[in-house]
Amino acid sequence: MIYQSVSRKSEASPIPLTRKAAYGAPQRTREVGGAGTACIRTFGCQMNVHDSDRMRRMIRDAGYAEVDAYEDADMVILNTCYVRENAVDRVRGHLGELVRLKREGRVKKVALTGCIGAAEESRELQDQYGIDLVLGTHNTYELAEFVGLPTMAETFTPELPGTEGETSAFITIMTGCNYQCSYCIVPSVRGRMICRPLENVVDEVERLVASGTSYVTLLGQTVDAWRDPSGDGKRFCDLLERVADVAPRVWFTTSHPSNMEDRTLRAIGEKPTIVTRLHLPVQSGSDRMLKIMHRGYKAERYRRKIEVFRENVPGGTLSTDIIVGHPGETERDHEETLKLVEDCGFDSAYVFKFSPRRGTEAAQMGEDVPPDLAQRRFMQVLRAIEQGAFERNQRKVGNEEEIYIRHGRAEGGKAIGETWSGHAVHVATSKATSVSPGDYVRARIESAGPHVLYAGEPIA
Ligand code: SAH
Ligand code: SF4
Ligand code: F3S
Repeated sequence: MIYQSVSRKSEASPIPLTRKAAYGAPQRTREVGGAGTACIRTFGCQMNVHDSDRMRRMIRDAGYAEVDAYEDADMVILNTCYVRENAVDRVRGHLGELVRLKREGRVKKVALTGCIGAAEESRELQDQYGIDLVLGTHNTYELAEFVGLPTMAETFTPELPGTEGETSAFITIMTGCNYQCSYCIVPSVRGRMICRPLENVVDEVERLVASGTSYVTLLGQTVDAWRDPSGDGKRFCDLLERVADVAPRVWFTTSHPSNMEDRTLRAIGEKPTIVTRLHLPVQSGSDRMLKIMHRGYKAERYRRKIEVFRENVPGGTLSTDIIVGHPGETERDHEETLKLVEDCGFDSAYVFKFSPRRGTEAAQMGEDVPPDLAQRRFMQVLRAIEQGAFERNQRKVGNEEEIYIRHGRAEGGKAIGETWSGHAVHVATSKATSVSPGDYVRARIESAGPHVLYAGEPIA
């Protein structure tokens, strides 16, 4: 395929949020930076990254200049994750530092938003660290008032606009989750599923593409559970196909094996604009554990889905999430997970040690797996994944690939991109071959590790 450069506009100014009907009054005009400086730190998943984009627009509209370091910020927003205890530990560390900076008179206001904000524990943190504002995931719009913008009427969260003019963008197609997995806090901090109408999503994609975006990712906790709220029977695959006709490059995450339709898997192989990477969390290879977890499928269904994917998407990549050490997990369950890992040939996986979350079923189950055993199982699954991924990646050495550039030039003169199968690639660049985000280049894969492919300089 030919070297191709798509239109880029990474520094475009955001469209004021006040253009949305959801605002009660016209936008205040202020010079950027006139309101002071603000720093946003994001923890957790892409949902939070996207919510941070929206908050970024609010603070820019309010006239704040964004800074990277806490020391330089008048206001700090921590957009937090609650999915595992270590996510909370990290935030505690940041809050401790912010208390110190506040005492020294450098930081003036601290806001905590996101999933911790939606949990009971946020009250304890607010008292302990003197946080000025706590917002959950359903009232993010209240930040507008806090930063000096007109009060924003309550708005349907998925419709809060993100950032336009970026090379790649996230688009929320649904929020919340209707599952009740035994271990998971997400439904209680993000609420039940709300799907965004198809036309509304397509409109946003069209606007983004017109503003220079060349890569859109459809977001949600279980995107394949999406249904058009109009009740017209449209399902995720219909939405995906429409978006794939409008956007030059499309990906989606996360999917649930119970909702994944074969026709979606076929569409990934058929539509040339869909990145051929499937992220399908399995959690465990044992039917007994899948039942305890309330996942709603058996390992056999998962394997079948993967077969359909492999048949219809040759060269596609597959990733997953796995939890080890869930209460009640036996050695036999663990071996079944290892077997599934071997059979499915994952290209990558997020492996997690079970972390008890207050208020979830699993936190009260008893039958805890001792920490050293959980650690041993964790390492075994991780090694099996890495071993398999390394072997699969080695087979790609020598291939010439079309690579979408995500970051022009990082350390060591390498650009960072991804193949059409969504595989991360470092591309060698020199002055003669400088590349920018959004470019497509062709390059030969020269070596590979378990996580990343390394390509030579782009072929002219
Ligand atoms: N909605 C997505 C994932 C949401 S959370 C899905 O259903 O696949 C991302 C991942 O975190 C989950 O897939 C799971 O593997 C992990 N996770 C969630 N709660 C956890 C907990 N209490 N302990 C350890 N890992 C957890
Ligand atoms: Fe959590 Fe399960 Fe919903 Fe995923 S599907 S967000 S793991 S409850
Ligand atoms: Fe974390 Fe909330 Fe995402 S708990 S994983 S940031 S939905």
